[in-house]
Amino acid sequence: MRPLYLLPLAALALAAAACSKETPAPQAEAKPAESPFQITATIQDIMDAEVDPAADFLWASTGFVSDKTGLHDKTPHTEAEWTAVRRNALILIEATNLLRMEGRQVATRELDREEKGGEDDPQKIQKAIETNWTAFIGFARRLHDVGSDMLKAIDKRDIAGMDKLGEDLDAACEACHRTFWYPNAVEPIQTLEPPK
Ligand code: HEC
Repeated sequence: MRPLYLLPLAALALAAAACSKETPAPQAEAKPAESPFQITATIQDIMDAEVDPAADFLWASTGFVSDKTGLHDKTPHTEAEWTAVRRNALILIEATNLLRMEGRQVATRELDREEKGGEDDPQKIQKAIETNWTAFIGFARRLHDVGSDMLKAIDKRDIAGMDKLGEDLDAACEACHRTFWYPNAVEPIQTLEPPK
């Protein structure tokens, strides 16, 4: 007996034939099984090349830096300076999509023992990300959203707003790092009172 599920397909084929008297109906192409992306960098590379420098640029754009030669205003003033800040916000925001691409390796370089302060080995981080993928995506999304708010503040030239968002940015980095990168790091003791 002819399986029933073939019937709708057969009907579609007939309909397609009816439509294609003059111009042949385009062949439906199946979605290729393999990913359309070509992944090159590790998460570590993306941190190093995009996330970290872009965040540093944004943090530096909201304050004053003092050195031997005096106090320097690092806030943007010229059009070119604002454009540079905006570009860094975009790099940071879009890098969060790169982090979320499935199949990306965490790192190829393991930290030297002396460098370590509670950081897990790449294989352990990789496993943790794979088994807690939804949480990882959530942290990347949070970074994206803080970055987007930062972009809005930049477009309004709101330096006070950017400064405030700088703290949220730091919290968004740390939340993911504490969960996946150095889950066993000792928390620094935070105290608002001066020691007695
Ligand atoms: C969604 C998770 C996530 C977020 C959000 C995140 N990171 Fe990371 N980051 C990681 C992971 C995982 C590693 C560990 C990779 C490794 O072994 O070096 C890492 C490593 C790093 C490193 C070390 C790179 C190296 O060369 O070893 C730096 C620097 C860094 N992150 C900066 C940042 C900054 C700055 C932010 C926020 C603006 C941030 N990260 C936000 C997941 C994240």
